[in-house]
This record gives sequence, structure tokens and C-alpha cells, in this order.
Amino acid sequence: MTNRTPVTKAIALPIRPDIRPMSASDLGDVLSIEQRCFPRPWTRGMFEAELRNPLSSAFIARLESNGRQVIAGYGIFWVVFGEAHILNLAVSPDFRRMGLSRALLEFSIIEMKRKTASEVFLEVRRSNKAARALYKKFGFKESFERANYYGDEDAIVMTREI
Ligand SMILES: CC(C)(COP(=O)(O)OP(=O)(O)OC[C@H]1O[C@@H](n2cnc3c(N)ncnc32)[C@H](O)[C@@H]1OP(=O)(O)O)[C@@H](O)C(=O)NCCC(=O)NCCS
Repeated sequence: MTNRTPVTKAIALPIRPDIRPMSASDLGDVLSIEQRCFPRPWTRGMFEAELRNPLSSAFIARLESNGRQVIAGYGIFWVVFGEAHILNLAVSPDFRRMGLSRALLEFSIIEMKRKTASEVFLEVRRSNKAARALYKKFGFKESFERANYYGDEDAIVMTREI
């Protein structure tokens, strides 16, 4: 990643993950979470392309588990002409419902603001109740649908002002 974001701690959350820029050495752990999280997971090449893309911010959240820091989740977004787009957000099944995606989203919104974005959007699978609930809780509105966006399912496009 060329536009590295500063290391930042999440605030006012039940857990305090260490959130930092994703690097190539994280990709083994990131890919194993990705494969457990999505029916059509991103490939290593897709993550590598994001790390090279100057418009992209990719970051990981680490937590202490059994005495060592492990990657528990990650997020990737772009900011283009004042508009942010969340491309990926995932939390390992081992660390769900602990507020980690909230921490990742809070971190993202702060970074998007810093990069002068004024709105953010994302696509989510219609069947992904957990993610839709998460984003709604975070102030996103369901704006419109993209038919067959995933090849096997429609996407709901959710938007929020920043
Ligand atoms: C969706 C996902 C990121 C949520 O991560 P998480 O760290 O477990 O979420 P949090 O603990 O921060 O939950 C925040 C809020 O989101 C909502 N939420 C999260 N998981 C939920 C679930 N399984 N069912 C319903 N609501 C859920 C709740 O409102 C929750 O608040 P609460 O715990 O106070 O009720 C995680 O389930 C995941 O990685 N899923 C697979 C990948 C994915 O779908 N990514 C999003 C692609 S658009």
C-alpha cells in the first residue's frame, strides 16, 4: 500500500484492537480469514492489487489471543473524488460479536474523513443479514439494488454521509 495510514486505536468500544495498515506479510492470515468468510473469496492477487493501489486503504485489526497478537479482521476502502467505497470488511469467525467490525468501521470513517470523503457506499449481499444489520446500526441506509451483482445474488447498495 502506498498511502499508509497512521496506526490508530479504536475508541469507546468493549474491545480495543490494534488497527494498522495491511502489508504483504499479513496476506497469509488475511486469506485464511477471507476463505472462511465469503462464498467467493478474494484471491491473493486481488489483495496484492489493493496494496499497490494508491486510492486504496487496507488495514488489519489485531487482538491478543493466547498470549500473542493475531489478525482477527480487516477492511479495505477507496476514496475517489470525495466518495468512499468499502470494498471488503471481514472478521474471523473466531472473534465475532465482540465489536470488532464496529471498531474497523469507526476507524474507516475517521480515515475517510481525513481523506476528505463526504459520503460512503458499499455493496452487500441481500442474504447477508449480519452485515446489513451492522451497517444499519452504523447509520447506513439501503439505497438501491444491483441485480445479480455477485453472479449468484443481488447486491443492496448502502450509503451514509460522513
Ligand atoms: C458482518 C461481520 C463483519 C460482523 O462482524 P462482527 O465483528 O461480528 O460485528 P460486531 O460484533 O462489531 O457487531 C456490531 C453490530 O452488527 C450487528 N451484527 C453483527 N453480527 C450480526 C449477526 N450475526 N446477526 C445480526 N446482527 C449482527 C449487530 O447490530 C451488532 O451489534 P450488537 O452486537 O451490539 O448486537 C462478520 O459477521 C463477518 O465478517 N461476516 C462475513 C463477512 C461479511 O459479511 N462482511 C461484510 C461484507 S459487506
